Amino acid sequence: MNSNDYLGLSMDRALREAEEYTVESHAVGPGAVRFISGTWDDHTALEERLAQFHDRPLAMLFSSAYAAMMGVLPSLVDDSTVVLSDELNHNCIINAIKLAGPKEKYVYPHLDLNVLENSLEQASSSCRRAIIVTDGVFSMRGDYAPLARIVELAERWDDHFDDNVIVVVDDSHGVGAYGDTGRGTEEVSVSRPVDVLISTLGKAVGVNGGYVVADSEIVDYLREISPFYIYSNPIGPGEAAAALAGLNIIDSEYGRDRLKSLYELTVFFRNQLSQMGFETIETRHPIVALLLRDTTRTRAMVDYLDSHGVLATGLTHPVVPFGQDEIRLQVSAAHTRKDIDQVLGVFEGITKL
Ligand SMILES: Cc1ncc(COP(=O)(O)O)c(C=O)c1O
Repeated sequence: MNSNDYLGLSMDRALREAEEYTVESHAVGPGAVRFISGTWDDHTALEERLAQFHDRPLAMLFSSAYAAMMGVLPSLVDDSTVVLSDELNHNCIINAIKLAGPKEKYVYPHLDLNVLENSLEQASSSCRRAIIVTDGVFSMRGDYAPLARIVELAERWDDHFDDNVIVVVDDSHGVGAYGDTGRGTEEVSVSRPVDVLISTLGKAVGVNGGYVVADSEIVDYLREISPFYIYSNPIGPGEAAAALAGLNIIDSEYGRDRLKSLYELTVFFRNQLSQMGFETIETRHPIVALLLRDTTRTRAMVDYLDSHGVLATGLTHPVVPFGQDEIRLQVSAAHTRKDIDQVLGVFEGITKL
């Protein structure tokens, strides 16, 4: 119950065959960075498919989503930029901001758009460019940023900054796992496209790697300037071929059916836990966060689950703020109803302790 392989694609035959075929007929590693001789047809085909999937002009691969965030955000920050970041953003965003060293930084309380707007107003007198950066789905909770409202806010404040307001989103837990067609948080929050969307190929897509999609101007610029792209190897051609197969599945009738059964299983699981008296966060995302707010209880419960055949992740400080200890459970379309019933049986045992 703690895998990011939300659709079970990492075990799918089509992905394994795609990788095996490419490795057999081409190579395992890329051989060099992209601009030397490390660009294989599999990389460009995957980039084209990612751009099409997200309805954007261009996509660009990185070796991971972490590397993508580190490679993208600092490249967009100059010495008159303010960065505004949700307090629960992923570690890759926190470190990308540190690396970027913006003129000003505001960390707003989780999902608090009033504070975000006040900070934009404050920064508008001293900064020329603003970047709002947020997770789409928040990895520790399964809740998500209201992207439609954030994009609208950015547009409203655009004229107050000479270089505009840019919205950057990491939707590593959203793409392929959320929304009726797997388009992630943009789909669920019914948002117009954000300016810069970063995601991983290592969770719902089932393989490994990261990418960014954006307008041509931004992607062309990043290819010229982003060190994590220019000076670092991409994923191997076999991984790119497997990721393309994964994306093709997500974007098919079969993929949408898997997403549907994933939601049904998730909603059932969450409701059953709530009925047993456990506190969960209200969302349809397959991350089911069990809020325990107590470190000792969290550790004891993880041990109990483990000894009864359930692998779950206990999250305590510093991974989550003090007092917000939780157990993160993740449902996958690869689970059967019998699997979920078995897990629920173990939780019933806990309630009787
Ligand atoms: C929100 C978020 N962004 C980025 C990453 C990193 O993804 P990758 O393994 O592709 O670097 C993770 C993985 O834990 C994540 O949860």
